[in-house]
Amino acid sequence: MAWQTLLYDRDGHVGTVTVNRPDALNALNTTVFAELSELFSEIAVDPDVRVIVLKGAGEKSFVAGADIKEMTGMTRQQAEARSWTGMRLYDQMRRMPQPLVASIQGYALGGGMLIAMACDIRVASTAATFGYPEIRLGIFPGTGGTVLIDRLIGPAAARAICLLGDRFPAERAYQLGLVNRLVEPGLLVAETADVAATLAGYSPVAIRELKSVLNASLELDFATAREVEIDAYGRAFESEDRVEGTTAFVEKRKPDFKGR
Ligand code: CAA
Repeated sequence: MAWQTLLYDRDGHVGTVTVNRPDALNALNTTVFAELSELFSEIAVDPDVRVIVLKGAGEKSFVAGADIKEMTGMTRQQAEARSWTGMRLYDQMRRMPQPLVASIQGYALGGGMLIAMACDIRVASTAATFGYPEIRLGIFPGTGGTVLIDRLIGPAAARAICLLGDRFPAERAYQLGLVNRLVEPGLLVAETADVAATLAGYSPVAIRELKSVLNASLELDFATAREVEIDAYGRAFESEDRVEGTTAFVEKRKPDFKGR
């Protein structure tokens, strides 16, 4: 499939999705939202892909947010519809059976920081810049971004990020727990590959079930989420991969997970 705004490449078990609008700093427009959703639907059912890397084209930007030029003439209804489109995409990403790794080399602003937060792991270069600048535009991160950042990093820091709208460096994002691995710019590709290889080596069944529990924990109350956890744990436990994992430990060898 030829994408207008994306690049897609699979190397072994790792699928790499690149938002490819470098002239607009990879801003998310209607086509990007639609194509990402379609591509993720395809990847979700590809058993060869065990990990997805999400990145932005060029050196300067991961994703500089939603496309502001597209937003200028929108009605309230169109803006709300756009927010639903974004929220559905971020939900779809969280619900992907494979883990997603955001590889962030430059600006991750507004919807760009949000789409990074819809990934499971964030690897960033020390040259990356984060922030929710929406307040400067007379709006706020209304695509689920306010609620999500509050859940991910806690209300005190989240509130300041949303209200002040300032940009902050990757080092600060790392301190906040928003970035999981922080490396010098020249090491970003290698560090991303290392994280992807680690995840690709685990049982796809356990990863899929684990993600469903982490999603439940984000979205549901404690007691209900624990019920989801027990069910998911049971499914992982009866997999061939679990037998392989525990047997390999006892036999002192590396497990070879098959995804069943
Ligand atoms: N939407 C559309 N176009 C964008 C864009 C965006 N979010 N960000 C950058 N661009 C475009 C610029 O308009 C410019 O295009 P032209 O050459 O056609 O003028 C090109 O990308 C390069 O950008 P700059 O010339 O501005 O580059 P810079 O180095 O001077 O500044 C920047 C870089 C600080 C990231 C600046 O571009 C910027 O502030 N961008 C907007 C960031 C932002 O506000 N993001 C939030 C968007 S709203 C949102 O995301 C809504 C939501 O979730 C609910």
